[in-house]
Amino acid sequence: MNDDPRADQLYWRFLDQYFGLELVPSLSKNQELFSEFDDEVKPLLVDEARRFVGQVMSGGTGRIDELLGANYTFLNERLAEFYGVSGVSGESMQQVELPAGERAGLLTHGGFLAVLGNETSGSPTLRGRFVRTKLLCQPIPEPPPNVNNAIEPPGEVHTTRQRYEEHLTRDDCRGCHAQMDPIGFGLENFDAVGRFRTEENGEPVDASGVIHDLGGVDVPFDGPRELVEALLASPELGDCVATHFFRYALGRMEQRFDECELERIQSEFAESGGHLPALLAAVVGSSTFQYRVKE
Ligand code: HEC
Repeated sequence: MNDDPRADQLYWRFLDQYFGLELVPSLSKNQELFSEFDDEVKPLLVDEARRFVGQVMSGGTGRIDELLGANYTFLNERLAEFYGVSGVSGESMQQVELPAGERAGLLTHGGFLAVLGNETSGSPTLRGRFVRTKLLCQPIPEPPPNVNNAIEPPGEVHTTRQRYEEHLTRDDCRGCHAQMDPIGFGLENFDAVGRFRTEENGEPVDASGVIHDLGGVDVPFDGPRELVEALLASPELGDCVATHFFRYALGRMEQRFDECELERIQSEFAESGGHLPALLAAVVGSSTFQYRVKE
């Protein structure tokens, strides 16, 4: 299945939707702060993710730990300039290794990070919510209708983190925001368009955080790599990816009567060590999928 270009397409379309990459071309960011995020770079960011997924699936291990943990990516000169990476020349996209502390797979791609933010900054809330709901399948209730969703303007506080930390000090916000923001803090090394940084407005970036209630315990981490490692070490991640793939392949949410089949798919995926082609085979081979095809 690994060599089948149609399978690559399927993963790509799934991941494109899952990671919100289809939204990248229509994003707009504050042009004073992010003038480099232009119409030339946006398609390159999509191309980066696409080539990366293609490499993981066709040349690499095809496993979730490579998809979320690899420290290589694909850049051409223009995109490398955008990211501030030196030593890449020419128009064609090429595989580039980055320091392991700076990159960890798709969660650290510019396209993905740009989607989960607003015009002027990245959003620890939205980044954390993605991890909580899309990678761990733990729902967060919708925000109460009367809450002011505006973020503190920069002023007294100098970092994105400081602006979001306020949510965690208030009793009426903490219940939901403690489930999201401290995860998102792990990606604070990336600005609103995914460029690596160690300082923001003259202050050092603090990318430490905690995943509350991961398999019943609070898991602290420091930086993007430790965040991803904590996720990869938790059974919730593989089960959740399997659930989302199941939904994608069937074009619907799982129902009560899918429980046994979904559990079987999740355990096959876990036994394969998070091998995505094994997940595809498990879903396509399931009676639920076959029945759907015959309909
Ligand atoms: C019931 C859960 C819940 C509670 C309680 C809650 N929020 Fe939220 N909040 C969310 C969710 C989910 C989001 C992200 C989705 C969205 O913006 O609709 C969010 C988003 C936000 C955002 C926008 C963040 C961004 O980067 O776009 C702000 C600001 C915010 N909340 C402030 C607050 C404040 C202040 C309180 C306390 C008075 C609060 N929220 C209470 C669930 C909650």
